[in-house]
Amino acid sequence: MSEVKIARIANLSEFDGQTVKIRGWVFNKRSSGKIKFLMIRDGSGIVQGVLVKGECNDPSFEEFEKITQESSIIVTGIVRKEPRSKIGYELTVLNVEAVQIADNYPISLKEHGVEFLMENRHLWIRSQRQWAALRVRNEIFFAIQDFFRKRGFMRFDPPILSATSCEGTSTLFQTPYFDEKAFLTQSGQLYGEAGAMAFGNIYTFGPTFRAEKSKTRKHLTEFWMVEPEMAYGNLTDVMDLGEAFVCHIVKHCLENCQPELVILERNQKELESIVAPFPRITYDEALKILEKRGHAIPWGEDFGAPHETALGEEFGKPVFIHHFPSRIKAFYFKNADDANGGGVDHDGKYALGADLIAPFGYGEIIGGGQREDSVTVLERRIQEHGLNLKDYQWYLDLRRYGSVPHAGFGLGVERTVAWITGVEHVRETIPFPRMMNTIRP
Ligand code: 4AD
Ligand code: MG
Repeated sequence: MSEVKIARIANLSEFDGQTVKIRGWVFNKRSSGKIKFLMIRDGSGIVQGVLVKGECNDPSFEEFEKITQESSIIVTGIVRKEPRSKIGYELTVLNVEAVQIADNYPISLKEHGVEFLMENRHLWIRSQRQWAALRVRNEIFFAIQDFFRKRGFMRFDPPILSATSCEGTSTLFQTPYFDEKAFLTQSGQLYGEAGAMAFGNIYTFGPTFRAEKSKTRKHLTEFWMVEPEMAYGNLTDVMDLGEAFVCHIVKHCLENCQPELVILERNQKELESIVAPFPRITYDEALKILEKRGHAIPWGEDFGAPHETALGEEFGKPVFIHHFPSRIKAFYFKNADDANGGGVDHDGKYALGADLIAPFGYGEIIGGGQREDSVTVLERRIQEHGLNLKDYQWYLDLRRYGSVPHAGFGLGVERTVAWITGVEHVRETIPFPRMMNTIRP
């Protein structure tokens, strides 16, 4: 007899009618009279194995009684088409071999509280919804690389340890660095700008860190960001690129994550409606909408969660808000005297920035804009923001040697995954979330 092939559950259709081995774990089991059902998961999917007297060998029946939820098992069986199965196949089991009988598994198939699940995150990721959300995250990584590669953006890796802050000093994680101090990067942007001056169009992609004291469904202290930067780019280019990027990611997920979106019970009609163009409104226009919806805020104040949710509701699709008051934005934004929304009589100036707000309360998924390109203005700005000029000399060099208009943005991966999968909280979109009160496991 030839060696039995090892199959992955995701690829069972390639083995129709053949005898295969599946190496995995017990997801669940049940008996119905003489027939026994074994839900086997192998990381790529779940398949139902059926043990029938006469087809399956007798020792396997004894093994079936012993194996517990999450025991590791190697199952030999014949792959059969089964229209009632979600994956279209099931397994007629011939043999079950236990690799390890699992202790009493703490996560049963019933509901558990989030706190308990978070403490058991290392096991929770085996559950169906968690598995599905993290698989979508993985696909989004492919979508990101694919999008930028096709557009000629080079991946450019910024350092994680840095001496300069990008997004204000209040959320820096500090660490000793030999005789100096260093910070965990808040954003790859400043380095990305250097990359854009060397390579034209680049994107950075990696973990970023913020000592956020917010306990919301949108905030992590460690999150992944994709940050494209375009030499000779402007604010409109930021919105054009961001819009195409988000549409590409959503389309990629619809095409490549069907089983996952079904497990997550995601409303796919909603995702299908995410197509360009996205509405683009100024901050001033946003204030009018907020007032109309009963969420008025004074000019110059930043949006909070209720405002973002209200703006998302107004449009039902992602919306760009641009021309923010410069006083609520970081030091590096290029500013304008006028919002092109018109009708300006405020003291403050406008930052050439744009945020993309996702619908359904997922908040801002993109933040970006055009960068200040004048060395003198930027020097002043750095000082006004209480930052140390010495640390920014290299950054100012980018304006001293061949300065050009340039622009870019950062897209938060976890918020994007949360929105696309429909999971409530960003903690379910990264394998091991880091939050104010979460550093274990
Ligand atoms: O708007 P932010 O702070 O922009 C920047 O960091 C720029 N330097 C990016 C650039 O222009 N290259 O952050 C960008 C995005 C947000 O829109 C959000 O999606 C995500 O990063 N983000 C967070 N995600 C999870 N948890 C947090 N604490 C986040 N802070 C920002
Ligand atoms: Mg922002």
